[in-house]
Parts: sequence; structure tokens; C-alpha cells
Amino acid sequence: MPSTLSTLCLAALSVPALAHPGHGGPGKDETGIKPIKNVQLGPRPYWLVDQMEDSPLKSKLQSCSEKQMRPSRWSIGHRGGGTLQFPEETVASIMAGTRMGAGIEECDVTFTSDRQLICRHSQCDLHTTTNILTIPELAAKCTVPFTPYNATTKKSATAKCCTSDFTLAELTETKELCAKMDSSDPKATTPEQYQGGVPGYRTTLYSGPGTCHKMLTVKEYIALVDALGLDFTPELKTPVVKMPFGSANYTQEAFAQQLIDEFKQAKIDPKRVWLQSFLYDDILYWLRAEPKFGKQAVLLDESGDAPSTIAAATASLTKYAKDGVNIVAPPLHYLVSTVTDKTGRVNIVASEYAKLAKTLGLKVVGWSLERSGWLADSTNGGYYYGTIANVTAARGEGVVFELLDVLASKEVGAIGVFSDWSATVSYYANCFGLFP
Ligand SMILES: *[C@@H]1O[C@H](CO)[C@@H](O)[C@H](O)[C@H]1NC(C)=O
Ligand SMILES: *[C@@H]1O[C@H](CO)[C@@H](O)[C@H](O)[C@H]1NC(C)=O
Ligand SMILES: *[C@@H]1O[C@H](CO)[C@@H](O)[C@H](O)[C@H]1NC(C)=O
Repeated sequence: MPSTLSTLCLAALSVPALAHPGHGGPGKDETGIKPIKNVQLGPRPYWLVDQMEDSPLKSKLQSCSEKQMRPSRWSIGHRGGGTLQFPEETVASIMAGTRMGAGIEECDVTFTSDRQLICRHSQCDLHTTTNILTIPELAAKCTVPFTPYNATTKKSATAKCCTSDFTLAELTETKELCAKMDSSDPKATTPEQYQGGVPGYRTTLYSGPGTCHKMLTVKEYIALVDALGLDFTPELKTPVVKMPFGSANYTQEAFAQQLIDEFKQAKIDPKRVWLQSFLYDDILYWLRAEPKFGKQAVLLDESGDAPSTIAAATASLTKYAKDGVNIVAPPLHYLVSTVTDKTGRVNIVASEYAKLAKTLGLKVVGWSLERSGWLADSTNGGYYYGTIANVTAARGEGVVFELLDVLASKEVGAIGVFSDWSATVSYYANCFGLFP
């Protein structure tokens, strides 16, 4: 049972040993948590294969159905890897992603008012990723307090609660404060109603009454993922508050260094750490100040979201390579486009962006699978499938594997793919022997 699972994990994590995380190599037993060997993918990947049109790819994937599955670093747990169904950035999401074969686990890193590091996807998402608005003494400290939906003006309900509004102790020691599925109901007239709005393809099954997922500090994240024997991909979140924050010496560079210092304190081998940032200066800082970590830092790229900006985003790859960046991670849709064959079938192929990255010797990572909901509804998979919407419109859910097949191909050669439900990427990686 998930509630038992998370209770057990949290109990194990709060043993005193946690104060001295990671004194050795992977898989040390200090948290009471051990590496997961019995990887379980559940029914979803098999169902997705069933949705595919007949093809050599489908036959190959079917041929792997009885294979013993194992963890792969090609499968990267996005916000923990169980995010489709479990509250993100929690022990439960990391344990779910790990059970489903993720070899690298993510924590998005932001800071509290006392400048301690904590895992949240945004510095200011506590109002949608936790129940903080229902706890009056904490809600009162939010940057923007809860304002109900106004039926006259039709203005949506709003709130804005940032980790930097609270001390670490307030966020980790307030008993009633729990993480929840990321959602809000714009028509809410009470803080309780504002907790709703979870899309139908996600679920509240694992965050219902009687369960409480605590937020993870970066120290706890490092101890947990180290104990699981996996790699780390912490993302330094772009601060929402102005830097320096709180004291004159808490600059962006001090924040970027603080993250590395936590890994050093835990004696983690830099080879296991895949730092990420959207801020180019963070990557340049790491390359300059901490080359062992910097050389496998991942530059996140969202500069080509519009059809009018993708050419410039592609051109910028040359500069990144020249500056010493080794890995870029754009959203999935930058890496692929389509061609129509003689029979009129539209196929997914490598994009110009992917081909230039390859030519320049840049490695690529894509984000994020399993965040889109239904692929054949009116959005055709939305943002992440923007350049291949014709394919999802034509062939629906099974297109997930067509996309992965192009990402894994020689033309793109992705070294990993983020997913909100690690089983699907793990299935592909195991079937094709991708264990980077
Ligand atoms: C809705 O907005 C109007 C116009 O700003 C305001 O007069 C009214 O008090 C608001 N209603 C509620 C319930 O806040
Ligand atoms: C910043 O300054 C404070 C004293 O004002 C000191 O305690 C702290 O260690 C400094 N932090 C860094 C990152 O230099
Ligand atoms: C994809 O769909 C768009 C309209 O949504 C259409 O203009 C375009 O020609 C299609 N491309 C292919 C390759 O079929």
C-alpha cells in the first residue's frame, strides 16, 4: 500500500543516521533503504505497445515482454519518476520511479528564507504542490495570500506561496503540511477547494486522507538517492526573488556553489551528479569553478519554443559547444520533426536541432515524457509533441514508443529521457539494451 510505503520510507529517512549522509559509495545502508533490484514496470508500457500500429518496432517491443527488467540511466525520473500519480519531489515519487527502473533521479532545487536547500519544482509553487493554504499560520506568510474566485469579475482564484517565505523548519516540521498533486481550481472560493483541479489522467489515489508526503530537503534527497545507488540530476531553479537574497553574499553564484557543496559534504562522486540549469551563467560558473561537476552539467534550453525562435535556438548550439558545454536538454519537440513517405504516412525523424547538436559533439537529453495526458485528444499531446502533432493525431498513444525510437536512434543519440512515469522509458531502454 502506498501510504504504508511512504510511511516506511519516511520513518527510515528520519533515523539519526540521516544527519551524516553518504560516507561511501553507492548503496550504503545509512538510511535503511537499499537499492531496488526487482524492477517492476506495471501494465502501462505493455498497454502502450498494444496501442501501436503493426511495425517492426512494435514486434521488437513485444518480443521484450517477458524480459527481466533492470535500472537504466537512460530512464530519468522527472520530479521523482512517479509524478504522473504521486506528488512530485517526494520520497514516494522517487521510490515509484526507482521501482520502475529510473537510473537517475531528479530534485529541483530552491531555497528557504534561511537559505537552506529544498526540493520543489518552483520556488513559488507551494500553493499548488502542498496544502499550505489550509494551514492558517503558514498561509498568512505567503507572498500573495489566497484570493477567492470572483463571480462578478470572473477573476480566477489566486495565491503565491514561495519556499523563500518560510524557514526550512516551518516547511519540514509543520506536521499538517503535506505535498499534493500539482493542481489548483481557478473557480475555488475556499483554500480547501483550491486544492482541487487535478487533471483526469493523473490521480489523487496516492495522496488521499490519512497520507502525508513530506517535502524533501536536498540533504535528504542526496541521502535517499545515494542509498538507492542511483545517479542524481538536481536542477538549480531560477530564483523568483531578486538575488542576492536575505544577505548581501547570497548571490546566484553562492546558491550555485551551495548545491555542489552539499554533494561534496555527502562525499558523492561528481560522476554521479548531472547538474542542470536554464541559466547559462550557472553552467559557465560550474565549468569555471567546479570543472568536475561542470563537465557533465546539463544546459536546459527553452529558447526555441515558437516556430519563429527554433532556428535561433539551433544556431546557439554552436556557441554552447564553443564555450565548453557538453550536454543540452531541450523539450522533446525540439529534437524531432516529421516527413511524409511515399504512401502518405507521416513519420518522426531527427530535427535540424538534433542533427546540429550531434555534429557539434553535444550530447542531448529530452524532457519530459508522460506529462501530456492523452495524445489523441484535441491537444495532440500539447507542448511536448508540438512538432509531431500530426503523428499523435494519426496514431495516438502508441506514438510514445515511435518518439523514443527516434530519440535513441543514431541521428539523435539522446543519452537519457526524463519521464513522469519511468516505466515507459525503462521498458524501451531494457528492450534495446540502453544502459549508459
Ligand atoms: C468581486 O470584485 C468586485 C469588483 O472588484 C468587488 O467589488 C467585489 O467585492 C468582489 N467580490 C468578492 C466576493 O470578493
Ligand atoms: C555570508 O555572510 C554571513 C555573515 O554575514 C556568513 O555567516 C556566511 O557564511 C556567508 N556566506 C557565504 C556563502 O559566504
Ligand atoms: C501537419 O498538420 C498541419 C495542420 O495541422 C498541416 O498543415 C501539415 O501539412 C501537416 N504535415 C504533414 C507532414 O502531414
